[in-house]
Amino acid sequence: MDVFKAIQWRRSIRRFALKKIEREKISQILEAARLAPSSSNRQTWHFVVIDDTSIIEQIPKQVALGTKMLVPWVSNAPLVIAGCYTKAWTHVVAQLFSHENHLVDVSIAMAHIALAATALGIGTCFVGWFNEKKLKHLLHIPVNYKIAVLLALGYPADAPTKESIGGIDPRPRKNLEEIVSYNKFGVKF
Ligand SMILES: Cc1cc2nc3c(=O)[nH]c(=O)nc-3n(C[C@H](O)[C@H](O)[C@H](O)COP(=O)(O)O)c2cc1C
Repeated sequence: MDVFKAIQWRRSIRRFALKKIEREKISQILEAARLAPSSSNRQTWHFVVIDDTSIIEQIPKQVALGTKMLVPWVSNAPLVIAGCYTKAWTHVVAQLFSHENHLVDVSIAMAHIALAATALGIGTCFVGWFNEKKLKHLLHIPVNYKIAVLLALGYPADAPTKESIGGIDPRPRKNLEEIVSYNKFGVKF
């Protein structure tokens, strides 16, 4: 599957089949993260690959108060990847100039993971609703690392619909007119 197809096909999947993701495919997906670009090539990311169901079941419980209803489906995912990062000195300097490169780096790598998974027929959904402190404790993340985002992965439980096949269903997205300027912000083509 080429990259444009993967972009079109990808959609958030929150219902997963019982089938486990094959080791070989997990390796391919992680390789896509490893090859991602990063500022000054620092690669200060770390990916915690969670396939222990007893840990995955705990994840929806590690959310901020009042948001429990938002992520109960995560407990049925066969795999969750926690995208973590720390900062190199180059990131600290960049921050003096308001550049959050450490977050950009890990976000790009996680997008690589999502698209690689899509190309392999695996569904994904990002999860931003979690209590970072509780989750760090659960996953034994060192103090100098933070969790940027989680990605739940698994084979989709539902067959693609007529509309979703080939990514041709209209996605609820702003049109390009609204989100693109030329040369200066607000200047249209
Ligand atoms: C950073 C980030 C955090 C997200 N957090 C959640 C979440 O906590 N729970 C959830 O159900 N979906 C979450 N999503 C999925 C979005 O709701 C979804 O990507 C968006 O509605 C667009 O739909 P699509 O992915 O099917 O194109 C998150 C997506 C991103 C990029």
